[in-house]
Amino acid sequence: MSGPFVIAVDGPAASGKGTIAKGLGEAFRLPVLDTGLLYRAVGVLAERAGELDNAEACAAAAVTMTADQLDDPRLRTREAGEMASQAAVHPEVRAALLEYQRTFAAQEGGAILDGRDIGTVICPTAPAKLYVTATPEVRADRRWKQLQAQGDAVSLEEVLADIRLRDQRDGDRDAAPMRRAPDAVLLDTSEMTIEQAADAARRIVEAARARWENS
Ligand code: DC
Repeated sequence: MSGPFVIAVDGPAASGKGTIAKGLGEAFRLPVLDTGLLYRAVGVLAERAGELDNAEACAAAAVTMTADQLDDPRLRTREAGEMASQAAVHPEVRAALLEYQRTFAAQEGGAILDGRDIGTVICPTAPAKLYVTATPEVRADRRWKQLQAQGDAVSLEEVLADIRLRDQRDGDRDAAPMRRAPDAVLLDTSEMTIEQAADAARRIVEAARARWENS
């Protein structure tokens, strides 16, 4: 047993990783950091200044950002997700956000972080790693239903196109691209309800925790 018990939850947009991370937080009584929110906050600040393409300006936004800005509901929109994905390609932004994430992960008692590069870059030695995925069609359908419930009249085709674009940008960038860590357990939720997926995730983490306690 070495270091705090960190759970890394990675995966593409709308895979259900956020809900899974929250469920794990309740089950294991650990604090959860949705790292996508950090990139969303940077993306929104940089877009407001018209500087989304400018790595230095985006990194400056990452440095000045404060934790209370992460509660802004505007960060949860589709547009903010797209801005986040664009800001996240800059290595300078990723470097500026690294320490905040590692400090969160280092807290005594452990932590859960969800994102794209937690198991590969932020916490490569995390004792529990999950890579949550689902087909683009299933993810688009889930996200579309959520957006409809929020009154967004966007079409399913548009949501699917957004998801494909984001997968491509997040997976193809040079700096910390979205990847499954070799030791992450793959959880494909395409055929699962959210309860089934949360249950499967809990079992995977229970097994990882037992291994960690005996190591
Ligand atoms: O998880 P999310 O949809 O809120 O993330 C928004 C964008 O932020 C995502 O498309 C890419 C970027 N991101 C990242 O590059 N690394 C992370 N650890 C989390 C998010």
